[in-house]
Amino acid sequence: MSGFCPSLRISVLWVLGGLRFNIVEILDAKTRDKLCFLDKVEPNATIAEIKNLFTKSHPQWYPARQSLRLDPKGKSLKDEDVLQNLPVGTTATLYFRDLGAQISWVTVFLTEYAGPLLIYLLFYFRVPFIYGPKYDFTSSKHSVVHLACICHSFHYVKRLLETIFVHRFSHGTMPLRNIFKNCTYYWGFAAWMAYYINHPLYTPPTYGDEQVKLALIIFLFCQLGNFSIHIALRNLRPAGSKTRKIPYPTKNPFTWLFLLVSCPNYTYEVGSWIGFAIMTQCLPVALFSLVGFIQMTIWAKGKHRSYLKEFRDYPPLRSPIVPFLL
Ligand SMILES: NC(=O)c1ccc[n+]([C@@H]2O[C@H](COP(=O)([O-])OP(=O)(O)OC[C@H]3O[C@@H](n4cnc5c(N)ncnc54)[C@H](OP(=O)(O)O)[C@@H]3O)[C@@H](O)[C@H]2O)c1
Repeated sequence: MSGFCPSLRISVLWVLGGLRFNIVEILDAKTRDKLCFLDKVEPNATIAEIKNLFTKSHPQWYPARQSLRLDPKGKSLKDEDVLQNLPVGTTATLYFRDLGAQISWVTVFLTEYAGPLLIYLLFYFRVPFIYGPKYDFTSSKHSVVHLACICHSFHYVKRLLETIFVHRFSHGTMPLRNIFKNCTYYWGFAAWMAYYINHPLYTPPTYGDEQVKLALIIFLFCQLGNFSIHIALRNLRPAGSKTRKIPYPTKNPFTWLFLLVSCPNYTYEVGSWIGFAIMTQCLPVALFSLVGFIQMTIWAKGKHRSYLKEFRDYPPLRSPIVPFLL
C-alpha cells in the first residue's frame, strides 16, 4: 500500500504484477473538499489501515480522531471493516469528519471516579473553609455518617479497580470535551451529597438503625450484583478483541437478572444509589439516583435496541433496565 496527496485522480483499477489495487479518495464530509488521494490500496485493507495512511499526509488528524463514512451524514465505518467488503467500486470515496481531540477511556474513567472519591473525603474530614473554623477536622457523632463514607469510598474504589482490571472496552478513546461534562456531573454531585451528609447539623435517618441496616443490605447486594455483571461481560470478550455477544446468565445467581433485562449492571447501579439514599436520607443523594437512573435508562434503551438489531435470536423477554417495565 502507498499513499500520496492530493494530486492524481485515476479512476481505473490498478493491475500491477498480478496484484489488484483500489483507489481511495477522502473528502471532507462538510465541505466536500478533497483531502487525500490514496492510490494502490490493497482491496483487503481495513479502515484502520486507511486511517493510518491518511494520518501520514495529515498528522494533526491521528487515527482516533478520524471518522470515515461512505455517506457524509452516514454512520462511521468500523476500524475492522475491509475495503473490498464495502459497497464501493474500484475508486472508493470516503467522507472524513474530525472527531476532535481524543483522550483514552481509561484516563477518562480514572479522572471521573478518582474525583468523587477525593472530594467526598474532603467533606468527611471537614477540611477548613467548608463548615466554619470551629468544625475544622472534627468528626461526626453519627455512626451512619462514617458508614456512608465507607460505602461511598468503596463504590468508587471498586469502579476504579474495575476500570483498570475488569472492563474490556471496545473504544480506545473518547472526545476530550466529554470529560468536562462528565466530571462536572460526577464531581458536582459528589460535593453536593458530601456537603449535606457530613454537615455538623446533619440528622440521621428517621427509622434509625433499622433503616440503615436495610439500606446497607440493599447497597451491598447491588454492589455485588453490579460486580458480577461486569465479570460476566468481561468473560464475553476475549482479551484484545472487540467482539460483542449476547450476555446470558451464568452459574452466579446475580447474573440471572440477564433473564429479564439487557443491562443488569445499570439496574444494580441504580439499586446501590437507592440503598445509599435510604441510608443517608439525603435529598441530593435521591436526586443523584434519579438523574443516574434517567441517564442509564437512555443508554440501556440504546444498547437494547442494538442487541435486537444485531442478534435475531435475542431473548424476547428482556427489557432494557427494569424488568417488564422499561
Ligand atoms: N452512576 C452513574 O451515573 C453511572 C453511569 C454510567 C455507568 N456507571 C457505572 O459504570 C459501569 C460501566 O458503565 P458502561 O456504560 O461502560 O457499561 P457497559 O456499556 O455495560 O459496559 C461495561 C463493559 O462491558 C463491555 N460490554 C458491554 N456489553 C458487552 C457485550 N455484549 N459483549 C462484550 N462486551 C460487552 C463494554 O465494552 P464496550 O467498550 O464495547 O462498551 C465495557 O467494557 C456501569 O455498569 C455502572 O456501574 C454509573
